[in-house]
Amino acid sequence: MLELLPPPPTDPLWDLTYEFGSDERAERLNLVLGVYRDHTGRTPVMAAVREAEIRLAERSESKEYRGLSGNAAFNRALLDLVLGPQGPSDRAAAVQTVAGSGALRLLADLICRTRPGTTVWISDPAYVNHRPILEAAGLEVRTFGWCDAEGGFDAAGVLRDLAGARRDDVVLLQGCCHNPTGADPVPEDWAALAELAARDGWVPFVDLAYHGLGDGLEADLAATRLLAERVPEMLIAVSCSKNFGLYSDRTGCAIVLGASAQAVRHAETALQNAARTLYSMPPEHGAAVVTTVLEDAGLRDLWRAELDAMRARIEANRTDLAARLTALGWQAQARSLARQRGMFSMLPLTAQEMLRLRREYAIYGTTAGRINIAGISADRIPCLARGIAGVLAGR
Ligand SMILES: Cc1ncc(COP(=O)(O)O)c(C=O)c1O
Repeated sequence: MLELLPPPPTDPLWDLTYEFGSDERAERLNLVLGVYRDHTGRTPVMAAVREAEIRLAERSESKEYRGLSGNAAFNRALLDLVLGPQGPSDRAAAVQTVAGSGALRLLADLICRTRPGTTVWISDPAYVNHRPILEAAGLEVRTFGWCDAEGGFDAAGVLRDLAGARRDDVVLLQGCCHNPTGADPVPEDWAALAELAARDGWVPFVDLAYHGLGDGLEADLAATRLLAERVPEMLIAVSCSKNFGLYSDRTGCAIVLGASAQAVRHAETALQNAARTLYSMPPEHGAAVVTTVLEDAGLRDLWRAELDAMRARIEANRTDLAARLTALGWQAQARSLARQRGMFSMLPLTAQEMLRLRREYAIYGTTAGRINIAGISADRIPCLARGIAGVLAGR
């Protein structure tokens, strides 16, 4: 049977990561994957997470099945965290998922079960896995622009493109720290998007993967909360991979907001049914850790402080890179970099120039120009700036 399989495409990001693994140059720099690294280049276990794990190991209650929605306390804690204490959690339900990717897939399945062939709009460019996940679930995908010529958020263009979205279409928006561009709407832009959704009847589908790493936890959640207030129905995919550092524990949840308690109950059951046929139940460990952190005031404060420190380091890296590019004579490029938010920066380089950056300077970003600004230690920023300036000078 397997002899019949034609060569399948491989994942471009992981391909680059493997290529990096066999690069023997001492100065090589891997900025491909979206993983936070501290100043020593490590991806640390957060202290709040470590303490929660110790407490859990001491308690070591049971590893019995949790049920199709996963850990109920985790789901409640994430509803509270995402929607806020005053949020509409009375018309919402959360189902624990296999991280943010699992939430995106379950919610895509929910859309398809509700109305097969629904059109989902994604930004162009989008997170590399958005289109594949939506299409794998059987949905139609259309795109709307995201950036202007300088790489900033193009409010007028986005509103113009989304005027084409029909009632009951779904629009996938990243709640903060847009991957890959780092270009985010300001609060007035979010208000305009919420108004458009309410007026035209499309359903916002918010992907939250980097909350806490842009402008701070509350600020990064503000757009999601605003949309939740303004529209009757909404879908939210939440990842705990980056902001709890639980990448390999695969922790996240899918949230649905509906106009009635019955609609929410039905949506929750549909999500459980989808999970049942995909992987049955999500893994417990990460969810137990997050719940332990969020339910304990001391651990929660510790986590918030660590998250703030991570955000400050990312911001310091970005500011330093922009200052160095300015000093090397690339002011316009530096200005557009400085405006970006979150873990990623989009370099103003073509695919060919990204290849040169890799070949001549051993600096690995994606072919589209994305680098993980959180993946570099402060002492390597001068070499990153020199590499970018060197490639720009070769134009
Ligand atoms: C925008 C966005 N959404 C979702 C995810 C999925 O994250 P995970 O499945 O690791 O939680 C990522 C990961 O990089 C992402 O960048």
